[in-house]
Amino acid sequence: MNICVVGAGYVGLVTGVGLAELGHKVSCVDVDKKKIDKLKRGIVPFYERDLERLVRKNLEVKNISFTTDLEEGLKDSLFVFIAVGTPSRENGEADLSQIIQVTENMAAFMQDYKIIVIKSTVPADAFQLIRKILTKKKREGIDFDLVSNPEFLREGEAVYDFFHPTRIVIGVDEGKEEVAEKLAELFRPLNAPIIKTSIINAQMIKYASNVFLASRISFINEIANICEKVGADVEEIARGMSFDKRLGDGYLKPGIGFGGPCLIKDLKALIKIAETYGYEAQHLKSILAKNEHQVKHILLKVKKVLGDFLYGKTIGVLGLTFKPGTNDVRSSLALRIIDLLRKEGAQVKAYDPWGMEEAKLCLSDLNLCKDPYEVALGADMLLILTGWEEFKKIDFARIKKILKEPIIVDGVNLLDPEKMRALGFMYKGVGR
Ligand code: UDX
Repeated sequence: MNICVVGAGYVGLVTGVGLAELGHKVSCVDVDKKKIDKLKRGIVPFYERDLERLVRKNLEVKNISFTTDLEEGLKDSLFVFIAVGTPSRENGEADLSQIIQVTENMAAFMQDYKIIVIKSTVPADAFQLIRKILTKKKREGIDFDLVSNPEFLREGEAVYDFFHPTRIVIGVDEGKEEVAEKLAELFRPLNAPIIKTSIINAQMIKYASNVFLASRISFINEIANICEKVGADVEEIARGMSFDKRLGDGYLKPGIGFGGPCLIKDLKALIKIAETYGYEAQHLKSILAKNEHQVKHILLKVKKVLGDFLYGKTIGVLGLTFKPGTNDVRSSLALRIIDLLRKEGAQVKAYDPWGMEEAKLCLSDLNLCKDPYEVALGADMLLILTGWEEFKKIDFARIKKILKEPIIVDGVNLLDPEKMRALGFMYKGVGR
């Protein structure tokens, strides 16, 4: 099957490579010429485990190709997957400008019937807009069908998630069951449950899933903060809860809050969608507010150990990415905390195994160090903001000698409190 994927970001590239790996001929289109030139040479412009290997493998067997020319990508493709960005606008609404641009171009180039599959997370209203643009701008006599096929990939695990999906959600218009079935056929080799539903249901499944994950994180962070007051250990609480199948064990890791390009964006977008329909989504707003509050809570923890006046203090930060296993710093709460610390007059020195280049693009004057020891040297305390496994292997006895004060605030509960205290640190985690 010939397939076109528009947008070679995380979702588009993983989907394209995954489909190529399943034996299809995939043409990946992106407007970014530099990105396409790199991909043609087998270089993935961001880090995602296993992705580069699969790009190279499929380039070699000619199952995947890359182009900036949408017309070329569309040619001979029955399926067109749209996976361009839908970032948050200032007011929380999803910014649909990239989708609109692609739709307009596509309408001009379509020469035969296409099944247009929207992977980007968009409010259901967007489908009416896409349909309207296509109908108005396409050549007469050329038909299309629209499908919603939301994506549940996690960064860092995206390739694994493509091949082991928890479910495939396919949303189509009433009476278009045969179109849903055609798309279902593509994904059958993955042996996942396939949910065929309406377009609005498909979009809401995506929003509700991401928002529910966010709500679990805000919930456990709230419990963590209460644990601190009553003297309980949130890690034990989460473990104790996890044996109940109704509760499960996912997304109960306390920390600095949820960051990254999806959870915050989708939560804000759903709040806005509800608002557009005259409904105030109070519960969703409180999830977002709790996330903001958690950042302030971490800041307060730092002030508790260093004093309210941070001016002139040096804080060594470990971790910049929004989670371990990625170099992505988009909506990273680590960067937000650093920004707040600096606004209070603190000096920040930082290290991250993969995220330093990306962080530099956001905070150009950030003092970056070559390793955790350089971070600790002469700092008033150490603050851990991303749960990289490799931080567990640090020689903390050495760190204790070079820190001005033996203080660790562990925002992600990465380290063993007993071990740290035995080494002579004043150790503060979250909720324990
Ligand atoms: C998320 C969804 O998991 C995925 O299904 C969707 O397609 C895209 O959004 P991702 O953005 O890659 O994926 O990040 P995820 O692994 O879900 O983590 C999001 C944030 O929550 C990170 O900042 C992470 O550190 C934080 N988190 C996660 C917690 O604080 N506690 C947890 O228990 C889990």
